[in-house]
Amino acid sequence: MFWLPLPAAGLVVARRVRVRRLWGRGLATADMTKGLVLGIYAKDKEEDVPQLTSAGESFNKQVAGKLREMLNISGPPLKAGKTRTFYGLHKDFPSVVVVGLGKRSAGVDNLENWHEGKENIRAAVAAGCRQVQDLELPAVEVDPCGDAQAAAEGAVLGLYEYDDLKQKKKMAVSAKLYGSGDEEAWQKGVLFASGQNLARQLMESPANEMTPTRFADIIQKQLRSASDKTEVHIRPKSWIEEQEMGSFLSVAKGSDEPPVFLEIHYTGSPNASEAPLVFVGKGITFDSGGISIKPSANMDLMRADMGGAATICSAIVSAAKLSLPINIIGLAPLCENMPSGKANKPGDVVRAKNGKTIQVDNTDAEGRLILADALCYAHTFNPKVIINAATLTGAMDIALGSGATGVFTNCDGLWKQLFEASIETGDRVWRMPLFEHYTRQVLDCQLADVNNLGKYRSAGACTAAAFLKEFVTHSKWAHLDIAGVMTNKDEVPYLRKGMSGRPTRTLIEFLLRFSQNSA
Ligand code: BES
Ligand code: ZN
Ligand code: ZN
Repeated sequence: MFWLPLPAAGLVVARRVRVRRLWGRGLATADMTKGLVLGIYAKDKEEDVPQLTSAGESFNKQVAGKLREMLNISGPPLKAGKTRTFYGLHKDFPSVVVVGLGKRSAGVDNLENWHEGKENIRAAVAAGCRQVQDLELPAVEVDPCGDAQAAAEGAVLGLYEYDDLKQKKKMAVSAKLYGSGDEEAWQKGVLFASGQNLARQLMESPANEMTPTRFADIIQKQLRSASDKTEVHIRPKSWIEEQEMGSFLSVAKGSDEPPVFLEIHYTGSPNASEAPLVFVGKGITFDSGGISIKPSANMDLMRADMGGAATICSAIVSAAKLSLPINIIGLAPLCENMPSGKANKPGDVVRAKNGKTIQVDNTDAEGRLILADALCYAHTFNPKVIINAATLTGAMDIALGSGATGVFTNCDGLWKQLFEASIETGDRVWRMPLFEHYTRQVLDCQLADVNNLGKYRSAGACTAAAFLKEFVTHSKWAHLDIAGVMTNKDEVPYLRKGMSGRPTRTLIEFLLRFSQNSA
């Protein structure tokens, strides 16, 4: 028999040996190297038969009903996110992976605050494409599964793994849309997912590689190749001094690595002088804690403490690729937080750009110190909105874990826009409070106007947000605490273990919707 359903791992190995032997005899064609991922829905009612997608149905016809036959004899109906692989059914696709999509009727779930159907497609396609990658096939065609954007996102996010520094790399699989479906939606999905993958790469890279200078160089290249309506300023220490960003400088001076204030402009609006949106991102390329040094266990994860800068810059690169008709400015204070003879000491007082003095009671609360100056600077562009993203507090992870990004905002409209964007992308946000209650706990300060440490241990994410609020006068501001969503273990099924690049897609979707509403 040529075809073979292979539920067991041992059989997969046997099959690989067989194909190698065929190749050895010179029987392989270019088509021997292509996989196909097809979706199948779960039964809506107990007595129903599971339905293939329309692409699945037409493939089944092409192979004279063999796919359906194989599915029926190879085991129980496929659960959502599960895969089953068949071999030798079709000359162009020696391996066909069928993936479970869950119920066809799945839509927006108002308790989960996401579109369950889209999430199911992302997860199923990711699992199917990884199966193809495990078979070491260099190409895969993917069923749009009724939503080509979600399918592309599943493929491109699911296949990504950071192996830049390994000699042995996973097979690079190129994913294409199967059939003559919605190519535009597929390309949009590729763009969204590639944006998130750029953020993942920046975050995962080790801190000795991803220095402030290197980060700025990469973003400069990415932005320039995305669009010619862009401008990049890589501001050195002397500029930061001229700007009187004493708070940012106080963190940077603890390290031998020079700081950079990265400023990127994308001028997509036909009116170049139209007010921009300003995005700000925390860019600590390594957070040791400084003199208030962190425990050594898992300290390596603090290479991703520039996740705010990575996600906002990637979102702006993506907006430029989409040619959105809006103006956007991205600001990223980039430096390391290290202990040294020059480092901040607990009790030191520093002065931010707006003149406010800050008592640095804990040098590990450095994110708010560098953001304070960047937020002051953001106001100078007279922006429509200011949004900042930061891996700001361990307390955010305690509060929501990786379930959602915490959003602290003084604007209900902005909240609604971010929330709605996140339902679409599945990279969720959840609103958190900006009460005076927390402000009082950072304004109670022995030596300065404001303390970088809250008076009590509780509600660390909220006191950090209250601190940032002291540097914001704009009426449309949102602070995204992304510390909880920084890494993925196995919670998001379509992301492999590692730095997540979240919530890049939500930021891109927000910008896309903003550009459509303001047009
Ligand atoms: N970068 C950390 C926050 C963090 C922790 C991000 C875990 C991602 C995962 C931040 O600079 C920090 O250390 N915050 C302190 C603040 C505290 C000293 C008030 C924290 O959360 O413990
Ligand atoms: Zn810290
Ligand atoms: Zn930090």
